[in-house]
Amino acid sequence: MSKQFDVVVIGAGPGGYIAAIRAAQLGMNVACIDEWTNNKGGPAPGGTCTNVGCIPSKALLQSSEHFDHANHHFAEHGIAVTGMSMDIGKMVARKDAVVKQNNEGILYLFKKNKVTFFHGRGSFVKAAEQGYEIKVEGATPETLVGKHIIVATGSSARGLANAPFDEENILSNDGALRLGAVPKKLGLIGSGVIGLEMGSVWRRLGADVTILEGMPTFMAAVDEQIAKEAHKAFTKQGLKIELGAKVGEIKNTKKGVSVAWTNAKGEAQTLDVDKLIVSIGRVPNTTGLNAPAVGLQLDERGAVVVDADCRTSLPGVWAVGDVVRGPMLAHKAEEEGVAVAERIAGQHGHVNFNTIPWVIYTSPEIAWVGQTEQQLKASGHAYKAGTFPFLANGRARALGDTTGMVKFLADANTDEILGVHIVGPQASELIAEAVVAMEFRASSEDIARICHAHPSLSEATKEAALAVDKRTLNF
Ligand code: FAD
Ligand code: NAI
Repeated sequence: MSKQFDVVVIGAGPGGYIAAIRAAQLGMNVACIDEWTNNKGGPAPGGTCTNVGCIPSKALLQSSEHFDHANHHFAEHGIAVTGMSMDIGKMVARKDAVVKQNNEGILYLFKKNKVTFFHGRGSFVKAAEQGYEIKVEGATPETLVGKHIIVATGSSARGLANAPFDEENILSNDGALRLGAVPKKLGLIGSGVIGLEMGSVWRRLGADVTILEGMPTFMAAVDEQIAKEAHKAFTKQGLKIELGAKVGEIKNTKKGVSVAWTNAKGEAQTLDVDKLIVSIGRVPNTTGLNAPAVGLQLDERGAVVVDADCRTSLPGVWAVGDVVRGPMLAHKAEEEGVAVAERIAGQHGHVNFNTIPWVIYTSPEIAWVGQTEQQLKASGHAYKAGTFPFLANGRARALGDTTGMVKFLADANTDEILGVHIVGPQASELIAEAVVAMEFRASSEDIARICHAHPSLSEATKEAALAVDKRTLNF
């Protein structure tokens, strides 16, 4: 006997669980299916983000940053530390506890909002009279029928054909987040977001880290000036970043991993490491969905094809988050989930793709929203730029962290803010002001005229806005 729902969500990552909650808030009868299983065989909703992504990586970044501060910065404050040690097992256990809290929080939210949760794999069976029939394969097999289906099955790490993940020596984000000891030598392939965050964690804890990046430029998607500043800071910290690297044969032995590669000058090199993290992007999860059973259209990467409103090729079937086009970010997935639930309810859900912020949680942090200077140049958009260094910010000096800057890009004629780029302390928090400003289509002068607390890092944002009009006050 099948169970009937208004909405069946497949996947309980940030896209799926938020869509389920919003649909339930709007009065619909909602089921959410997720297959992620914890080490006790129980459900672990929250997806990549909660289990092996955003949350655990930030927990380890925090622990390793404390260690780094104690090692390198406490002395400036007159704090002497002797006999310091690092218990990696404890650090990883703390991270696991943070993950568990989040898993449990989502199960609580499902109960609170009367979302029916099913633990297992969801897949299409056929179109039904009242929507679509979905099979749940798990400890308790079920058949559900949903008038509307939201596919939110996320993504998985992309591997290299010649170096499959064993999570022992060759690691995806999963293995990278649960190493039992600090590797003496750590290699990473790909200096994207994961490469930089994970490379930073293990470098701070004492690993000798080398990143092999295929592209000739560092962080091509980031504003060039900001990327240059970040590259300088990371190199100074001891991260070895090899750009324009061509990775060849990879040998995985009991002793470690040996990577043959060619540098930008075409010279043959070998990198011998204890562990290798492969962080070269992610692929959408659609293999378990049985998409052909209903004729759901996928693209050549396996992503579900959707329009701007997350409608798929099938009426009543929607898809959100990493499994569709666009940036693979938790907050993008959440916004799409909310918008889809609202559209199903007949409302006008909306996602502004121009104001989705990006944050890289390294030290210095990197955050941005809107267009980069190279994008504006390429499109021929006339713009004005203003920058302000944290070196000239009182709060940054007091914190002892003056790396980086805030950069504004504004329309040359209207002064509307087109992009804000930050590299420096607390960039992840500072970017929120820029997102609000851009959402309200503010001008740089609007920010320049707003009173910002003193002393605060946010004064650098105000000053960068003033810099667009060449009238900084403190620089
Ligand atoms: P997912 O979170 O991948 O969730 C999909 C869920 O669906 C999973 O639980 C999966 O088990 C389940 N599923 C798949 N197929 C089925 C099926 N057939 N049946 C049942 N269940 C199924 N983003 C940020 O914004 N900020 C960050 O700081 C950040 N850090 C990251 C760090 C790392 C190391 C990684 C890997 C990613 C990070 N991301 C971050 C990206 C972020 O995790 C993803 O963008 C986000 O999780 C996407 O959400 P989603 O709901 O689309 O998919
Ligand atoms: P990424 O797309 O950020 O970076 C991949 C890097 O690998 C690129 O620089 C690319 O040029 C390089 N590369 C690709 N193939 C290569 C090869 N064969 N040899 C050498 N270099 C190669 O992907 P990443 O780091 O795996 O992260 C996946 C996604 O997860 C991110 O794009 C992001 O959406 C999300 N994420 C977000 C975080 C955040 O918001 N703070 C943190 C971590 C991940």
